Amino acid sequence: MTTPLIELHEVTRRYDEGPPALNDVSLSIAPGEAVAILGPSGSGKSTLLNLVAGLDRPSAGTVTVDGVRVDQLGEAASAKYRRARIGLVFQFFNLLDDLTVADNVMLPAQLAGMSRGTAERRATELLGRLGVDRHAAAYPGRLSGGERQRVAVARALMNKPALLLADEPTGALDTASGEDVMRLLTELHADGQTVVLVTHDLVLAERCATRTVQLLDGRVATDTALEVLR
Ligand SMILES: Nc1ncnc2c1ncn2[C@@H]1O[C@H](COP(=O)(O)OP(=O)(O)O)[C@@H](O)[C@H]1O
Ligand SMILES: [Mg+2]
Repeated sequence: MTTPLIELHEVTRRYDEGPPALNDVSLSIAPGEAVAILGPSGSGKSTLLNLVAGLDRPSAGTVTVDGVRVDQLGEAASAKYRRARIGLVFQFFNLLDDLTVADNVMLPAQLAGMSRGTAERRATELLGRLGVDRHAAAYPGRLSGGERQRVAVARALMNKPALLLADEPTGALDTASGEDVMRLLTELHADGQTVVLVTHDLVLAERCATRTVQLLDGRVATDTALEVLR
C-alpha cells in the first residue's frame, strides 16, 4: 500500500452553535487520486477542504498531508505549507484585479522566493498549457469567467503543489465553461496531479473523478471508487 497523501483521522469540527460541521470523519486519499467531495449545501464539504488546506483547525482528530501534521501548524507554518504543497481554486477565482494575469500567476512563486525570471518562464508555460497565454498582459476584469478560472488554476499550479484543492470551481460558470474547467482538471489528473474537488454536480464529478465521497450532515455517507474509461 502506498502512503496516503491525505489522512484524516477521526476529525470533528465543531462550532459554538449547531451540530458539528464535520463529525468523526476518517478518510485516506492516495497520491494520484482524483476525488470528488459531494453532498448538499451545509454538509461539511468546504470545512473538510479548509482543514486539509490548513485554513481551519479541527476540534478533534488529526489531519496529515504529505507527511505534515496540518492540524498542528501555527499561522506562519500553515501559510508556508500552503505555498509549498497546496494549490487552491475557489468558486470566485480570487484573482487580484489590479495585477495582470501573468503577475497573478507569478505571485505564489515570488512569495516562495523564486526568481522573477524563473517565475516568468513557468507562468508563460502554464498559461500556454491552460490556453490563456494571449491574456498574459491583460487584467482579470477583461476576461470571461471561464478564462479567469483557467488563470486561477494556473496560479494554483505555479509552485508544483502535491495537491490541488478546488471548492466548487465551476459554481460561478456557465455550463460550457464549467465543462471546460472540469476537462482541465481531468487532464491534470491524467498527468499525475492529485486532485480533491468539491462540487454538487454529480455528472461533472463522475466525469473527472476516480472516486466520489458523499458527505451528509458532516459524516461520510458513501465512498465509491469509479470505473473511469479513459
Ligand atoms: N464560521 C462558521 N461558524 C458557524 N458555523 C459554520 C461556520 N462555517 C460553517 N459553518 C456550518 O458548518 C456546516 C458545514 O458548512 P460547510 O462546510 O461550509 O458546508 P458545505 O461546503 O458542504 O456547503 C454548515 O451547517 C455551516 O452553517
Ligand atoms: Mg461549501
